Amino acid sequence: MTGTVRIGVAGLGTVGASLIELLARHETTITARAGQRLVVTAVSARDRSRDRGIDLSGMTWFDDARDLATAGNVDVVVELMGGSEGPARDLVTNALKNGRPVVTANKALLAEHGNELGVLAEEHGVALGYEAAVAGGIPIIKALKEGLAGNDIQRVYGILNGTCNFILSEMRSTGRDFADVLAEAQALGYAEADPTFDVEGIDAAHKLALLSAIAFGQQVDFSRVTVEGISTISPIDIAYADEFGFRLKLLGVAERIGDTVTERVHPFLVSLDDPISKVEGVNNAVVVEGDFVGRTVLEGPGAGGGATASAVASDLIDVATGRFSPVFGIPASALRARQDGGSDEPHGRFYISLKVEDRPGVIADLAAVLRDHAISIESLLQRGKPEGGTAPIVVICHDAPESRVLAALKQIEGMDCILQNPHMIRIKDL
Ligand SMILES: NC(=O)c1ccc[n+]([C@@H]2O[C@H](COP(=O)([O-])OP(=O)(O)OC[C@H]3O[C@@H](n4cnc5c(N)ncnc54)[C@H](OP(=O)(O)O)[C@@H]3O)[C@@H](O)[C@H]2O)c1
Repeated sequence: MTGTVRIGVAGLGTVGASLIELLARHETTITARAGQRLVVTAVSARDRSRDRGIDLSGMTWFDDARDLATAGNVDVVVELMGGSEGPARDLVTNALKNGRPVVTANKALLAEHGNELGVLAEEHGVALGYEAAVAGGIPIIKALKEGLAGNDIQRVYGILNGTCNFILSEMRSTGRDFADVLAEAQALGYAEADPTFDVEGIDAAHKLALLSAIAFGQQVDFSRVTVEGISTISPIDIAYADEFGFRLKLLGVAERIGDTVTERVHPFLVSLDDPISKVEGVNNAVVVEGDFVGRTVLEGPGAGGGATASAVASDLIDVATGRFSPVFGIPASALRARQDGGSDEPHGRFYISLKVEDRPGVIADLAAVLRDHAISIESLLQRGKPEGGTAPIVVICHDAPESRVLAALKQIEGMDCILQNPHMIRIKDL
């Protein structure tokens, strides 16, 4: 490649159209930074007749996106279609096999097939850039692979899904319930018609698997991320969180515990002292804790055409300048397989909300179950007058191993006084 880098873009939706606009608008600056012109020479999408509000003149249209892997007028393939299988997987695989660098925003593809694609990229000596796949416009992949590379990473965690953060922020500020706010998020274009990937935590888990691979030098293994979403969160949980001095956030957390790395996506109660608790709306934030650097926080737009195109452009400039490192920071052959859990396990404080019969002795019975599992109570709250013979109770437990808390909850579920299964939310202590 000399003088001009010819780019083939597969997918002209939110991100693809923004990328084409960005490359046109910032042509002079990008040429200066890349040392070459970045020119989109080929494009593909499903519907050729659709007006996308961008100028596609001079670009060759391909009905089948897979053909960009071998097209004669393409040096670099940009995959912006989405999906972990089908055309996206075929295109990326074949482009790499054909010795073509690839840039993608597709976290699902990389979380499912990142190991094999990383090996292919290395075998063929080409870049596979995916800055846009995690936290949209936040340059967290580069930060982990380069800026923080001198550290032993203890923990990486963050708000990795803007849709969930928007829903939780709205539920808190308006007191509305999950379904109501989800419908608004869909109307505003923040949530897909099928919101499952977002609200059930799968999208955040895809991103966490990628962050964890880089941070801990291990193979990507999405199947082993524990995933819980926000669809069971009630306005009452959010109100109690406020009362106890927390914000409720969906976090992806990857951390070293003993000899192993755990990767989990759960709703967490985050202390108001933590900067991440202040991140509202569709924004994302990622915290990295390294042994020499301490704690670093990156915050910014986690989605949207402009922010995501910004990350794609950064990868393209790296490709043009020949600056690229192994896909997950170290050679694929050196990535460790994920270890099974050792004797250490997650522990922390827990919030438990319950609906119980309003009769004498119930609180003592609950306290006895917690005592029998060696869990001590930090706070217990029963607010307002019980209604219709039921009383809502919230318990905050002191630090305890998670397995003990889960065992206690199982026993509590079987008690006669329980009118609605207990709802447990982890507290993120930092
Ligand atoms: N949107 C964001 O904020 C964001 C943020 C980070 C990462 N991402 C990732 O970026 C990728 C693209 O997202 P997006 O929001 O831009 O999606 P989108 O708006 O739905 O656009 C997808 C594009 O891909 C095209 N496409 C789909 N299937 C195709 C096929 N079989 N052959 C050729 N073209 C095909 C579509 O063509 P038609 O237009 O003709 O239908 C459309 O242009 C996804 O991997 C997503 O996860 C998105």
